[in-house]
Amino acid sequence: MELKPLGNTGVMLPEIGLGTWSYSGGVDPLRKGIKLGAYLIDTAEGYNTEDVVGQATKGIRKRVFIATKVSGRHLRYDQVLRAAEESLRKLDTDYIDLYQVHWPNSSVPIKETMRAIEVLVDSGRVKYIGVSNFSVSELREAQAAMSKYPIVSNQVLYNLNSRDIERELIPYCEKHQVTILAYTPLDSGSLAKSPPFRRSRGMEVLEQIANQSQKTIVQVALNWCTSHPNVIAIPKSNSGARTIENCGASGWRLSQAQVELLDKAFS
Ligand SMILES: NC(=O)c1ccc[n+]([C@@H]2O[C@H](COP(=O)([O-])OP(=O)(O)OC[C@H]3O[C@@H](n4cnc5c(N)ncnc54)[C@H](OP(=O)(O)O)[C@@H]3O)[C@@H](O)[C@H]2O)c1
Repeated sequence: MELKPLGNTGVMLPEIGLGTWSYSGGVDPLRKGIKLGAYLIDTAEGYNTEDVVGQATKGIRKRVFIATKVSGRHLRYDQVLRAAEESLRKLDTDYIDLYQVHWPNSSVPIKETMRAIEVLVDSGRVKYIGVSNFSVSELREAQAAMSKYPIVSNQVLYNLNSRDIERELIPYCEKHQVTILAYTPLDSGSLAKSPPFRRSRGMEVLEQIANQSQKTIVQVALNWCTSHPNVIAIPKSNSGARTIENCGASGWRLSQAQVELLDKAFS
């Protein structure tokens, strides 16, 4: 599994992590993923999966990196502190590796939210601070609101069919050492199955490249995401076999020419 830096923290993370939104696979697929080096697990207070993440990481807590999120509806100072305690309880741990603001909320001053998260870092309950679904201007504003610690990641939608972040956000994050966690990297599974007829140009090229590379289309779609140096992909699967397949998206690289072919075919 190839590793990528988390912002400027010196922490290295696997370029394929394990998503858990609408996850119902139990502990086994998560344990299989961790065993293969995908030791970054993403959850959120709103997912109802923090408890299964806690069960899957029991006894191996120090070997995993748990990223969870405070809901965009809980961004008042006291709400953040309460939400973090609840997440810690469900995760059955005494620290969260990465605490992310799930969505921006313009009705709460970002300074108030970030002050609460900085207090959580001061007390050791949180190690690193991230955001999610933040545009460049929202990210800038959040960074300016920090008094002690940096924002090390932004979790955003990114896959072959959804490429809005390429214009502004990826270049900005590369320049400012903010790691991108690419969510829905398989476009909710639509990049995982090639339709039997009337295939799009993109799916045709994805299949050709998968055949050339002796990889599956899923592995090519994920490797395309992580071909950017600061992008980590967090696919979700309920199945152990598919989690193993997803982990096989790392440890090799599409050529520059293959990346460009995919860029063009899905543009
Ligand atoms: N921050 C945010 O606002 C936000 C929003 C959405 C998602 N996320 C995070 O990103 C993670 C991933 O995104 P996602 O769950 O929306 O979508 P995704 O990972 O793009 O796709 C998940 C779908 O693909 C299927 N799948 C996974 N691996 C497969 C494989 N190897 N072969 C065939 N099908 C496969 C899964 O089915 P099976 O489970 O049956 O394998 C599931 O239906 C989430 O779980 C969550 O942690 C964050």
